Amino acid sequence: MLYLKDLISHGRVRACYYHPLHNKLCVKVALNKKHSSLLQKEIKNNELFKKTIGAYVPRYYKLVKTNKGLGLTTDLIYDDNNRLSPRLKDWLKQQKPLSQDIMSQFDDFFSRLLKYQLWFYDFNDENFLIKTHKKRHYLYFVDTKSLNRNNSWSTLKLEYVIPFLARRRMLRRIRRFYTAHHKPIPQQFS
Ligand SMILES: Nc1ncnc2c1ncn2[C@@H]1O[C@H](COP(=O)(O)OP(=O)(O)OP(=O)(O)O)[C@@H](O)[C@H]1O
Ligand SMILES: [Mg+2]
Repeated sequence: MLYLKDLISHGRVRACYYHPLHNKLCVKVALNKKHSSLLQKEIKNNELFKKTIGAYVPRYYKLVKTNKGLGLTTDLIYDDNNRLSPRLKDWLKQQKPLSQDIMSQFDDFFSRLLKYQLWFYDFNDENFLIKTHKKRHYLYFVDTKSLNRNNSWSTLKLEYVIPFLARRRMLRRIRRFYTAHHKPIPQQFS
């Protein structure tokens, strides 16, 4: 059993800890045990992501027992100095610019989501990390638990089963992302 103690950060659903034995990994645990099944789902997404948005997402490895419940091991996103890469939220707080280079990665990421019908609706500034490697910046989307593929009949919301509605909903969220960051909305998303 892994003993987790160094918290990186937590969202509403999961907490993310440094892996106690591997410095290139982190471990995600559900804050509420009823959400543990989400962790398994992420591992299943590896192959799909590799072919579609592989450059932008960490890989997921295996489920492990920890002192905080079931944990999911995944790549830790860190900078050249071995420090944790900042979340988009921290990046902006540090007054770092959203350069053309970073924005073109966002454009590419969002257009891939549309192309491959990977419906996500959660583009908040805590789910994106910006890694710096050899003076270049790389965008990462670290929270893929809410992937929807038009197959969740368990939920009654129509946008979860009808691609047209899912696409429309995601496009609205994408546009909202650009607007929130005072960036023009690329033609392909308007
Ligand atoms: N692979 C990673 N490398 C480094 N930090 C990470 C990684 N994954 C997550 N984090 C950090 O942990 C935080 C919480 O992770 P995550 O977004 O998966 O939790 P969540 O509860 O599912 O989020 P939400 O509140 O959006 O539902 C992130 O905001 C980020 O700061
Ligand atoms: Mg999150």
